[in-house]
Amino acid sequence: MKQMKVEINELIRPELKKIKSYQKEDKEKQYKIDLSGNESPFDLPIEIKREITEQIIKKPLNTYPNLYTENLRCSIVNYLDLDLNCNQIIVGNGSDDVLDMLTDTFIKQGDFVLALAPTFSMYKFFTVLSGGNYYNIPLTKNTVTFKKIKHKIDTLNPKMIFLCSPNNPTGEMIDQEIILRLAESYKGILVIDEAYADFSNTSVIRHVNQHTNLAVTRTFSKAFGLAGIRLGYLVGSKELIEQVNRVLKPYNINSITSMIGRIILKKNKLIEDRISKIIKEREKMLNIFSLNKNWDVYPSSANFIYIKGEDIFNFAKLLNQNSIKIRIFKKPKAIRITIGKPKDNKLVVDLFKDFKGGKEDE
Ligand SMILES: Cc1ncc(COP(=O)(O)O)c(C=O)c1O
Repeated sequence: MKQMKVEINELIRPELKKIKSYQKEDKEKQYKIDLSGNESPFDLPIEIKREITEQIIKKPLNTYPNLYTENLRCSIVNYLDLDLNCNQIIVGNGSDDVLDMLTDTFIKQGDFVLALAPTFSMYKFFTVLSGGNYYNIPLTKNTVTFKKIKHKIDTLNPKMIFLCSPNNPTGEMIDQEIILRLAESYKGILVIDEAYADFSNTSVIRHVNQHTNLAVTRTFSKAFGLAGIRLGYLVGSKELIEQVNRVLKPYNINSITSMIGRIILKKNKLIEDRISKIIKEREKMLNIFSLNKNWDVYPSSANFIYIKGEDIFNFAKLLNQNSIKIRIFKKPKAIRITIGKPKDNKLVVDLFKDFKGGKEDE
């Protein structure tokens, strides 16, 4: 009997039709230098890789890992060195995973979610995935005020707000005072994404005990240089974490990721050294880019630099021709360059010096 063709696309949840699958742009082109993903340019030193290898040899892989990663969560609490309990942390497969858990827990069909723009694209993705309505306010460069956000809260009544500080892609910080005033007055879930906070040395984690609605996310992918192991975490009040735990899947972190995470948390000195190297490079590059008076070079508290400019795509093209991959944004016209190894940054700076600018050739 001939089988009838099943129209698979008719079977999916309607909200998924708004989502395109996440595909890396320029997949076919190979670049020598990738400054597009805000990763750390530094891999782990060989001694630490050896330490990890020895641990893997000792570790039984036929058994499930620790059910809810208690050891790792407690190591994170020790590292943060704040008045927190291990039960105030949830770890995930990258911080994307804990952001997803947040919308999964709190956002239902039709709920509004508020964010600023431009910002990290996954907030919209997770909102739509949960059936929520995503709304953003275009606010950057010192235009972010409590009043403007409060006004939107009053008109939209969002269930959740995402604020990214330092913000991807602009690199700007959101004033702690604004965050705390919002946490105080807002009745929904206030998510502060601190993926890049290690580069700014400021955090609102210590306030989670006073504000039950404050959810802070962190990652091992950026300053810790471990994007490959996929590890991130959420910190919140006991009450908030208790609710998010409802959507947590058992054994969600594999034993190798968990073990590597615990090892790196003991290497404070290495991490601090690398952060200061990146900051030093960032400041040097910011100063140099700022020499181009036709560009709007944003001050950065993260490991990347955001630049707007009429002819900025010509510079992007020049980098591209020299096998350097960066991130391009069409609206508004801007680029984001991750701080790389000193030699790679020098290459970017040399190309900047060669760059004549002028009218853009589309
Ligand atoms: C602001 C922000 N949050 C979260 C993430 C996700 O990081 P990960 O899932 O690797 O922890 C990124 C990654 O680029 C990011 O830029």
